[in-house]
Amino acid sequence: MLRIDKIQENLQTKKLGKKVLFLREVGSTNDLAKKMADYRASEGTIVIAEMQTAGRGRFGRAWFSPKGGLYFSVILRPNISPKEAAKLVFVAGLAVAEVLHENYGLKAETKWPNDVLVGGRKVCGILGEMKTKGEKINYAVIGVGVNVNVNVERNFPENLVNVATSIENEFGGKVRLEELFKLLLEKLDSLYEEFLKEGFTQVLKRWKKYASFLGKTVEVTGGTERLCGLALDVDDEGALVIRLEDGMVKRFLVGDVSLKQ
Ligand code: BTN
Repeated sequence: MLRIDKIQENLQTKKLGKKVLFLREVGSTNDLAKKMADYRASEGTIVIAEMQTAGRGRFGRAWFSPKGGLYFSVILRPNISPKEAAKLVFVAGLAVAEVLHENYGLKAETKWPNDVLVGGRKVCGILGEMKTKGEKINYAVIGVGVNVNVNVERNFPENLVNVATSIENEFGGKVRLEELFKLLLEKLDSLYEEFLKEGFTQVLKRWKKYASFLGKTVEVTGGTERLCGLALDVDDEGALVIRLEDGMVKRFLVGDVSLKQ
């Protein structure tokens, strides 16, 4: 069982993790965090579970959440517009990539808009949701799922085996979940502060250092569209900029990207 009290004792954060709700099992930490936010849970409150029975991903996809992974959601209440709050998923993606690289020596990659990969396979997914209040947001919930102490070949469903990986698979052994959770919270806390004080530019610059899909031919799916082109950039709105085969340049604000073989 995760020793949350031990983590909180020496957690070096300004805002995140002062209140942490730990559960052995939950449907989805994002769903519970949203309910708590509706009941006025304060900024920085975290819901973490050992496993999820209805873990959710983007576009209504399921997020496989067996024991051994890290599943948590952070409630944030920044005084910013929905358009700015949409960039928080990049802040979270960067936090994960930097921790995996700096603390575990893994060659982490960020993939637009909010995945973290190692060796081309997904190790972490992020689900950002928000409730708006006029021009501003009431709250944002950032859900982070990391495949940690699980063996993907042995324990994951067949359809995920070639696209997913875990820290155990890449690191070559188990890591301490408490330690990883603490490092992620501290990194996310400092990047969140930086984002609020200085804006998106520096966060994006750091995020791009890990974005190995840039400069490569990719396939983008956005809504009903499926297009192929050269990934040129992620702009300061968080949009993916692609040069299509006919030379036209197109921006995507939502969608998914995969490397074209
Ligand atoms: C994706 O890759 O599409 C996003 C996956 C996000 C999964 C995390 S696990 C913790 C939080 N609770 C959820 O139900 N989803 C997010």
